[in-house]
Amino acid sequence: MSSEFLPTSGPGTVVCEPSTRPETVEAEALVVFLAEGGVGAGSAAPLDAATGGLLTRLAAAGELSGRRYECVPLLAAPGVRAGQLLVVGVGKREDVTAGVLYRAAATAARHLAGRPRGRVAFVADGSWTTTQVEQAVAGAAVGMVGQDLYRAERKRTRFGTTIWIAAPAEAVERGALIADGVNLTRRLVNMAPDDIYPQSFADECATIAGRTGLDIEIWDEDRLVRERCNAILAVGRGSSRPPRLVLLRHRGAGRTGPGRSPAAAAPPLALVGKGVTFDSGGLSLKPSEGMLTMKCDMSGAAAVLAAAATIASLELPLDVTVGIGLVENMTGPAAYKLGDVITARSGTTIEVHNTDAEGRIVLADVLDVIRGEKPARIVDLATLTGACVVALGQDVAGLFTNDQACCDAVAAAAREVGEPVWQLPMFPDYDEQIKSEVADIKNVGDGRWGGAITAAKFLERFVGGIPWTHVDIAGPAFSEKSRPWTDGGASGCMVRTLVELARA
Ligand code: BES
Ligand code: MN
Ligand code: ZN
Repeated sequence: MSSEFLPTSGPGTVVCEPSTRPETVEAEALVVFLAEGGVGAGSAAPLDAATGGLLTRLAAAGELSGRRYECVPLLAAPGVRAGQLLVVGVGKREDVTAGVLYRAAATAARHLAGRPRGRVAFVADGSWTTTQVEQAVAGAAVGMVGQDLYRAERKRTRFGTTIWIAAPAEAVERGALIADGVNLTRRLVNMAPDDIYPQSFADECATIAGRTGLDIEIWDEDRLVRERCNAILAVGRGSSRPPRLVLLRHRGAGRTGPGRSPAAAAPPLALVGKGVTFDSGGLSLKPSEGMLTMKCDMSGAAAVLAAAATIASLELPLDVTVGIGLVENMTGPAAYKLGDVITARSGTTIEVHNTDAEGRIVLADVLDVIRGEKPARIVDLATLTGACVVALGQDVAGLFTNDQACCDAVAAAAREVGEPVWQLPMFPDYDEQIKSEVADIKNVGDGRWGGAITAAKFLERFVGGIPWTHVDIAGPAFSEKSRPWTDGGASGCMVRTLVELARA
């Protein structure tokens, strides 16, 4: 079994050996997961026995704690055929979740991927749930990929072959596909903004759609004009790279046979992504420090593309529609201006108070297009506001909704796979703050307080009452510094959550 839709998936084959005894596997490294005080339990026990109690002795000496993400390599461990036994900590046994296993596996893989390796084996624990196996497999495949797109000398190399022991083959296969989605998102977000712009992003969408069997439509400027997408066009006017809108469709309901939905049936789920391929701020220009990482401003678009690709690869039995708004926010001579009034596709007029609040303007038209498909619910992903990072920090995504059940479903999926999210309020009083003196609404709130919520309130105006959840990923999408489980740069956040949501 090999990764399916990543172009870079030459190496990185995943093999399943459900019943091999771990100490007999031929590999450069054998990874085993260890809970605090757990050398005598789970998958560590047989390895402790095979090594004549080495793990017990190291634990007693305080060299092996099982604390979260601790990595202890035991070179040439006696009784083990693999070149090294790498023990990775998962913390207290009762607190082990799919999210912890994703990070632990990623930490071990990242550690080992520091130099080229042919075969690396991971030992699953018989007590893990299916989701836990999937997420551990995904973590291992994400952790071995670094941020080497533009480096001559690579810092991480994918393993030739990853072997999973004591894990069901179907769960391993699904985990590998989920990792493809996360790694696809990371690659697109990490690409330099001169390489990924609206047309080249749309080309990537077409390639991925071709590989995974998604239907695709790409709207160019002419089509955007005909569709009255004035909001997208306005934001795109300052750039020499014209905007695009991409629609992707996964028709999975038909696969189930008898329950097949007619072609025109409304999809149960629509995903929308902010695809600002570079955000200079426009005429409300960002300072250099704030602008440096703004290639990440298409993280929502990359995540919904990757989620759709993964949903298609997993052949999930539901229909999903994806809408992606692609623009570059620049300061060219035709750039949109402060004081401009834009008539969005829905007919709502928007007064521009700040050209750096461009994401919500782009999403206004994408949400309106998607609303036309009458989906049962809409989830949008956007690196929308610095205010959300102020509120929740860099690791937590903000949730905003007009329908609590819809939001609860997103939060439950996030919890299941271990991605931190937190809901913020949408009290009607906030609506007052986006009222305009000259148009229906303005694109920033009064003053800067509650900026993540006023942005969400703006989006709410364009979903027409359809159950909707907005996910602000400005914090977790991109991190300048590395973590034990990932090299700095794009995180691929929320892909795992969206896939889980589509399965639930
Ligand atoms: N893309 C930014 C938000 C952002 C900030 C993403 C930090 C990732 C990290 C967005 O377009 C933006 O500039 N928002 C402004 C809105 C303001 C002008 C009302 C912001 O947050 O400052
Ligand atoms: Mn901006
Ligand atoms: Zn932006």
